[in-house]
Amino acid sequence: MALELTAARPYPALLDLPWSTPLEEWPEEILAALPRGISRHVVRFVRVEGRVMAVKEIKADIARREYGMLRMLRRLGQPAVEPVGVVAGRTTMAGEPLDACLLTRHLQFSLPYRAMLSQTLKPDTAQRLIDALAVLLVRLHLSGFWWGDVSLSNTLFKRNAGEFAAYLVDAETGELHDRLSTGQREHDLDIARVNIAGELMDLQAGGLIGEEVEPIEVSEQIMTRYRTLWEELTKTERFETGDRWRVDERIRRLNDLGFDVGELDITTDIGGTEIQIQPKVVDAGHHRRRLLRLTGLDVEDNQARRLLNDLDAYRAATDRQNDDEELVAYDWLTKIYEPVTRTVPASMRAKLEPAEIFHEVLEHRWYLSEKQGHDVAIEDAIVDYVDTVLPTKPDEKAVVGVDTESIPVRARTD
Ligand SMILES: Nc1ncnc2c1ncn2[C@@H]1O[C@H](COP(=O)(O)OP(=O)(O)OP(=O)(O)O)[C@@H](O)[C@H]1O
Ligand SMILES: [Mg+2]
Repeated sequence: MALELTAARPYPALLDLPWSTPLEEWPEEILAALPRGISRHVVRFVRVEGRVMAVKEIKADIARREYGMLRMLRRLGQPAVEPVGVVAGRTTMAGEPLDACLLTRHLQFSLPYRAMLSQTLKPDTAQRLIDALAVLLVRLHLSGFWWGDVSLSNTLFKRNAGEFAAYLVDAETGELHDRLSTGQREHDLDIARVNIAGELMDLQAGGLIGEEVEPIEVSEQIMTRYRTLWEELTKTERFETGDRWRVDERIRRLNDLGFDVGELDITTDIGGTEIQIQPKVVDAGHHRRRLLRLTGLDVEDNQARRLLNDLDAYRAATDRQNDDEELVAYDWLTKIYEPVTRTVPASMRAKLEPAEIFHEVLEHRWYLSEKQGHDVAIEDAIVDYVDTVLPTKPDEKAVVGVDTESIPVRARTD
């Protein structure tokens, strides 16, 4: 057998995997029992050099195409799983040809939507997953990516300060264009709506979500959410020359939505009485970039917003409005953020990411303060949180034992 390995970075241990065995028959000892979404192809998780990788068995040309597409998306700064490589030229010991394999890094602390729904009891979880998917779709469309198979099972979700952040996991059908036409965007939206409705019906049949949820109605919200965000990010505004403050206001609104304006088109009419503005380039991750610059912490955007708010509160409480922002940020990091997240015992660190724990501690402090009728220090809040709340949470770094495949699924029509 002449194995052909295409990889961005060499992982020598990849060559030791049992490539001459069909993926379905790989021995348990090398597999990681993590929750998987539903898929047509065989997908397994393996441990390679201390990392968990997802292996998907597909035809070589499709594997190479998807690998290239995922690399392109990562280069464009899009939230997608990280491609590791393609293994082709596989044969069994008897010389029978086997399909190729696409390898991607397992996304830490992420969950497929079925596992996410089976863990949270909040009734609006499905809604919030769809909100996150709408944001992902807008981001992909802004970069010219047409997905072609938008669905909850082709998305992974990470916690994001009480909300969710969505990552693309399946780029098989995608196409990258310079820009998308309205027709192309609407086509993706339509695919999303139909797929989500089907997925919610499956969940209902499996008893994972309540009877009161209306799959069709909920699935249609992807369109409303998507269109509102798209409009806000791309629309042209006109106003009188005297109202120039409205340029700043537009930028602030975009920042609030978590986007930076990379390029703004400003034109005036011939008489010079009217200004027209339209964002040309918008980049997601406004709060994330600011937090990264100030503290070196790299977290999801809502988490970053939450942390920045706490930093601002710290600045006010310590009366340091006139100090350098970087200096205050450093003090906040070393005196507040790190001590708080370090309080979590090692045995509980696989439950949630540090930034999500910090967000939950802030919520917990608010809850304690309200109950006790006075301010509670964050040092006391974290101790109580670690005693009473965190032990009840499942591990999400690499969740074991959520068997989402045992949930009944309607026959797929594709
Ligand atoms: N890098 C990864 N990290 C975490 N989970 C992953 C990763 N890659 C794949 N998965 C899991 O495996 C599932 C199937 O992957 P994928 O959607 O690529 O397979 P597929 O067979 O092409 O799906 P489809 O049926 O949509 O064609 C995903 O829903 C996800 O739960
Ligand atoms: Mg898929």
